[in-house]
Amino acid sequence: MRVLAIESSCDESAAAVLDARAGLLAHELFSQVQLHRAYGGVVPELASRDHVRRLLPLVRGALERAGTRPGELHGVAYTAGPGLIGALLTGASLGRSLAYAWDVPAIGVHHLEGHLLAPLLEADPPPFPHLALLVSGGHTLLIEVSGVGRYRVLGTSRDDAAGEAFDKSAKLLGLPYPGGPQLAQLAERGAPGAFSFPRPMLDRAGLEFSFSGLKTAVLHAVRGRSLTETLRADLARGVQEAIVETLTAKALRALEYTGLTVLVVSGGVSANRALRERLTAAAGSRGARVYYPRIEFCTDNAAMIAVAGLARLKAGEHDGLAIRARARWPLESLPALPP
Ligand code: KG4
Ligand code: ZN
Repeated sequence: MRVLAIESSCDESAAAVLDARAGLLAHELFSQVQLHRAYGGVVPELASRDHVRRLLPLVRGALERAGTRPGELHGVAYTAGPGLIGALLTGASLGRSLAYAWDVPAIGVHHLEGHLLAPLLEADPPPFPHLALLVSGGHTLLIEVSGVGRYRVLGTSRDDAAGEAFDKSAKLLGLPYPGGPQLAQLAERGAPGAFSFPRPMLDRAGLEFSFSGLKTAVLHAVRGRSLTETLRADLARGVQEAIVETLTAKALRALEYTGLTVLVVSGGVSANRALRERLTAAAGSRGARVYYPRIEFCTDNAAMIAVAGLARLKAGEHDGLAIRARARWPLESLPALPP
């Protein structure tokens, strides 16, 4: 079985071809970062318009690189939500229409299920059941994953997501959008412990997160100061330490609560080197093993949509002729696949 997948939920346009036996044959991506930089964040209407321009050439490129003709495909997967509705509609319309034209089934994929299943693309994939820490620009979730579609959310953020905390703090430090990766780079040069920002909710029981207080603390720390390069690096280090420590402590707590010994970390923030190091060490010292997607599949991509779509198509699931797109879509409402 071979599928084409399309991702367009935010500011990344992507296409991929995945074969059930031969693995990932191609993945193409265009990031709209430059387009949105002038505005300091993603402008939804600009994102939609650019997806319209980029998607078809990306699909053509992925098929070409994969050496695949449309007649060799068994289905088309596209991101159906959650995300920016206009952006989602561009990929959904294209994916659903191509499937119709090629007379193959289409499947609308949940973007977060894509992130959760991204590590299955690696040579040594994580076993089920496992604990997932999904940290992206829009979500911070601890999830007990007992199989595809078998998700129990254990904890989430009450306000800002972890990626959002990186991005908003970065903005306060004068870094260009998207700030997360830039803040991480700057933090490498900062002195450890120079700034100690609050570790929200750590003192409280449970698995909830809250990151909105962090940007306020950063705002207070930068106010009235001239931001030298050293000071900015120290501040970045402090922000990263606070986020990494909070995520690590809650993930360990969740491993303890559930008795699980496998931790899967995915989503854009899982590309963060400090987080990876800290989690691997901390979980390792408790006898748990940590799995990550390769760096390029931490952030949005179509390969992860292909994995989730292929799993569901293989199980006999597919959509009707309607184009599906949902800005909001609870992860726990997804149907469970047989083990
Ligand atoms: O998963 P993703 O590409 O998009 C969403 O579904 O949200 O995640 C993007 C988020 C952004 O907030 C970005 O700043 C953050 O992931 N991010 C990072 C790093 N790389 C991406 N945050 C910290 N360190 C990084 N290296
Ligand atoms: Zn994402």
